[in-house]
Amino acid sequence: MQQVFIVGLGLIGGSLAMNIAKKEHVHVIGLDEDYDTMQMAKKQGVIQEIATNFEAGVKQADVLVLATPIAITINYIEQLNHMIIEKKLVITDVSSVKNNVLKAAENLSNPNLAFVGGHPMAGSHKQGYTAAKPHLFENAIYVLTPSTHACQKEADLLKELFSETEARFLIFSSQEHDEMTAVISHFPHLIASSLVHQAKNWQATHPYLEHLAAGGFKDITRIASSNPKLWQDIFFQNRQLLISMLDDWIVEMKKVQAYLQEELSEHTFEYLQTAKSYRDGLPVRERGAIPAFYDIYVDIHDQPGAIHDVIGLLAKHSISIKNIEILEVREGITGVLRISFSTNEEQLKSKQLLEEDQYEVMLEQ
Ligand SMILES: NC(=O)c1ccc[n+]([C@@H]2O[C@H](COP(=O)([O-])OP(=O)(O)OC[C@H]3O[C@@H](n4cnc5c(N)ncnc54)[C@H](O)[C@@H]3O)[C@@H](O)[C@H]2O)c1
Repeated sequence: MQQVFIVGLGLIGGSLAMNIAKKEHVHVIGLDEDYDTMQMAKKQGVIQEIATNFEAGVKQADVLVLATPIAITINYIEQLNHMIIEKKLVITDVSSVKNNVLKAAENLSNPNLAFVGGHPMAGSHKQGYTAAKPHLFENAIYVLTPSTHACQKEADLLKELFSETEARFLIFSSQEHDEMTAVISHFPHLIASSLVHQAKNWQATHPYLEHLAAGGFKDITRIASSNPKLWQDIFFQNRQLLISMLDDWIVEMKKVQAYLQEELSEHTFEYLQTAKSYRDGLPVRERGAIPAFYDIYVDIHDQPGAIHDVIGLLAKHSISIKNIEILEVREGITGVLRISFSTNEEQLKSKQLLEEDQYEVMLEQ
């Protein structure tokens, strides 16, 4: 029986635990700072046992999964250096930023410990165990960042342990991971927040502005509505890269400002054209780090008429669908239907209608 100890049973840890619990010959031990969370997870059979404390859980475990906020995860890794651990222990985490976590892991002195960092690139606007879902990671990218104390064997063990998630595993160094996520996720989040601040400032002199902002502006700033606590943690963990990206961005913006000041219309066109070409060439069918706009994810079962029923319900209420995609349906297993709408209103209305009809619906914000 493989002993798996999960610390932090929130959105990510809870969702992983739900998948691990489906596996045979695995005993899941859980620990969370929130007592009710642990009780709920135990009652639902997502964990089989509650650890009395961190050290007791570690001593029992073959695999340790740290799914707490990043600074806390680093603290737990540091605690491992002060414990006597006599059997092999594979350690992983789920942190959205990897460099500082890997630095702490490289300082582990006990040869029995092998650390392979992890980042399942899926989330929700919600937090905590009650938001956890077994299908959260379906088709999502799951990055593994092995430390120098680990090898392919430990990465393979984790892929097998998390196989029920249906995520797509990729291996990167922590530096590569942090640079790429800074470019496509962390920095855009910072810019989205700054655009919202700019609009808020202009609102003071232009009271009607918020009504104009309801459309496209809301699209491009949607990520600014995510959990500020999580993003504060991410910004600070990746602050060196963000600081240097801000330097590059300011230089770039000064260049564009000069195009406008000097009326260089050709240069301006080139700037916009290059951005369009790169963006248009991005893969459309993949689930990347930032979800597409106005989408809902509906769970469906592999049975005749399943898709027809969902579309029929929306058609009955005159809701028009912009795009529809089946993310995964295998025989007898729940699949996910991604339906896109042109407006946030249609997205919310559809979610409400489908939920009233007992469908499981997820919104990505
Ligand atoms: N939410 C996302 O979109 C997302 C996506 C990928 C990775 N992550 C990473 O996942 C990690 C957890 O984020 P989340 O979204 O699941 O947050 P969450 O708030 O839903 O869950 C965190 C859990 O950790 C518990 N916790 C806090 N301090 C603890 C402690 N000292 N000991 C034990 N348990 C403790 C909390 O009670 C909570 O249940 C973070 O490191 C984050 O970077 C988040």
